[in-house]
Amino acid sequence: MNVLVIGRGGREHAICWTLSQAKSVSRVFCAPGNAGIANTATRVDIDESSQELLVQFARENDIALTIVGPEQPLAEGIVDRFLSEGLTIFGPSKEAAIIEGSKSYAKDLMKKYNVPTAAYETFTDAESAKEYILKHGAPIVIKADGLAAGKGVVVAMSQKEAMDAIEDMLIHQQFGSSSSQIVIEEFLEGEEFSLMALVHQDKIIPLEIAQDHKRAYDGDKGPNTGGMGAYSPVAHLPENLTKHAMKEILQPVVDAMITEGRPFTGVLYAGLILTSEGPKVIEFNARFGDPETQVVLPRMNSDLAQLILKLLQGETEEVDWDPRPIAGVVLAAEGYPGNYQKGIKLHEFTQDHEFIFHAGTELEEGQLVSTGGRVLLAARMGKTIGQAQKNVYAYLKEKKADGLYYRKDIAHRAISSL
Ligand code: AMP
Ligand code: GLY
Repeated sequence: MNVLVIGRGGREHAICWTLSQAKSVSRVFCAPGNAGIANTATRVDIDESSQELLVQFARENDIALTIVGPEQPLAEGIVDRFLSEGLTIFGPSKEAAIIEGSKSYAKDLMKKYNVPTAAYETFTDAESAKEYILKHGAPIVIKADGLAAGKGVVVAMSQKEAMDAIEDMLIHQQFGSSSSQIVIEEFLEGEEFSLMALVHQDKIIPLEIAQDHKRAYDGDKGPNTGGMGAYSPVAHLPENLTKHAMKEILQPVVDAMITEGRPFTGVLYAGLILTSEGPKVIEFNARFGDPETQVVLPRMNSDLAQLILKLLQGETEEVDWDPRPIAGVVLAAEGYPGNYQKGIKLHEFTQDHEFIFHAGTELEEGQLVSTGGRVLLAARMGKTIGQAQKNVYAYLKEKKADGLYYRKDIAHRAISSL
């Protein structure tokens, strides 16, 4: 079959690569893709929001399955549009994508259905929000209600930081209408991890757990980013964690979405934290995680396209995984997540295709250059996570990466707990 992937980041590169390995797939198209994706899929010059052109492309190219990478087209209703044309697409409807698009919706849903998450309240008025801070103190967490490209969360360690965040979001509209409403929630402590699952209505296929590294610098210091690296599996977490999270979190949530008249299809990403009271939800996303996908999908031996098509028929199958861990390190432009330069020359990486996932690259006059803050992700497997980590840093040591920086400690939690 022919498949189409919508998006242009590292996550979509990994999805395309995985589909290109699947026996059932003959051609992989990616709209619009990036320079690295061009090595594994045929690029299609249509952007993620051009619904009519995407529908037309899918029709004309006999696309049997479309997978949507980013949240924006989902929130814009791309799935509804494809379904109304009788096309097969894997992703949530606009109504179901709200589980990511509105943090207050997700929180209210969890409260209503007793899914464990941090205590919270929702505000549109800065004065009441500030009163809440005075009452509850710090540390405390302030979140823009709507989509903010992963940047709408402030973990405030002091009351002043919390007050500043409230002003930025509610008064200065830092994220436009996405921050005209905010959620303030209890600060949770514990180990964070990401559990993604393929979902169709009440049917769930959990994927292997991964761990992201959100802070910019080594030792989990510095500002929050979209993710500076990841690894999978996360062997030092309790063995029954996925089972437990399926029962207490994923199943109740997908059942709740049906009850609420918003049945969910697509990837449900649960950002979880293992507290002393068990796992609790930090956030839901309605799509594959980035960079988690780049370290999870390459371990999948099963045919991803078949898995999804069968799931859409209501059949669940156990996924066959390569037991070898993968560590993935993001190379970001210096300055990211603040201001950074584009157009950084990447000739050192031009010939490297194996397990190098491109996040923000293009060819300019035949030269590979950066187009985003997160530029590449280098991934390596190993017999152990320690070996995977060694392998990826040995590769990077050989590379001159002027203008780029990367963390030197990806997977440190797994390794220090050995
Ligand atoms: P999010 O965008 O919701 O994933 O939040 C970004 C990061 O902020 C998370 O990965 C956590 O590290 C942190 N965070 C979010 N909510 C909480 C919370 N309630 N308690 C502690 N840390 C949090
Ligand atoms: N890695 C976090 C996310 O994809 O939102």
